[in-house]
Amino acid sequence: MNQFLKGCNLYLIGMMGSGKTTIAQILAPQLEYRYFDTDRLIEQVAGQSIPEIFAESGEAAFRELETKVLSELCAYTRLVVATGGGIILNRQNWSYLQHGVVVWLDVPVEQLYQRLSGDTTRPLLRDPDPMAKLRSLLDQRQSLYSQADVRVIVSPEDTPEQIATGVLSEI
Ligand code: S3P
Repeated sequence: MNQFLKGCNLYLIGMMGSGKTTIAQILAPQLEYRYFDTDRLIEQVAGQSIPEIFAESGEAAFRELETKVLSELCAYTRLVVATGGGIILNRQNWSYLQHGVVVWLDVPVEQLYQRLSGDTTRPLLRDPDPMAKLRSLLDQRQSLYSQADVRVIVSPEDTPEQIATGVLSEI
């Protein structure tokens, strides 16, 4: 196990609501790695919440912070990093992600929608039709997520522990 990882960072990518944070928090102690979440780091750097950053400075400013935070994580090894769902959009981010092993948590859009219904922390979902918005984001991003080293297909009945075990068996 972990022949692929070899002490590198592990980056979890995938849509909002795909469980990156939960799975990263399960994996970090199992691997004896440290856990980070790019969204939380961005909030610390900005001194603002994600919705505040989007509202006051816009998505482009958020993406700049995201790239900055990700680039700084490259200085470290043995991290499990839960990334924001849009981290794959910026080509430069891929050069940073390549400092580790990238795992895509591929969750059906219906399940994402269920998990995110009522969520107020994701500015991109503030849309009259959040399901259509999720589908369109996934359409735009699918080919980028599929550039991950490993794709873990998540079924509705999988528990977080089963998903984490699935990730471990692939890296
Ligand atoms: C975003 C996902 C969010 C957060 C921001 C933008 C996206 O992170 O970075 O709201 O573009 O998909 P999660 O994937 O952790 O929800």
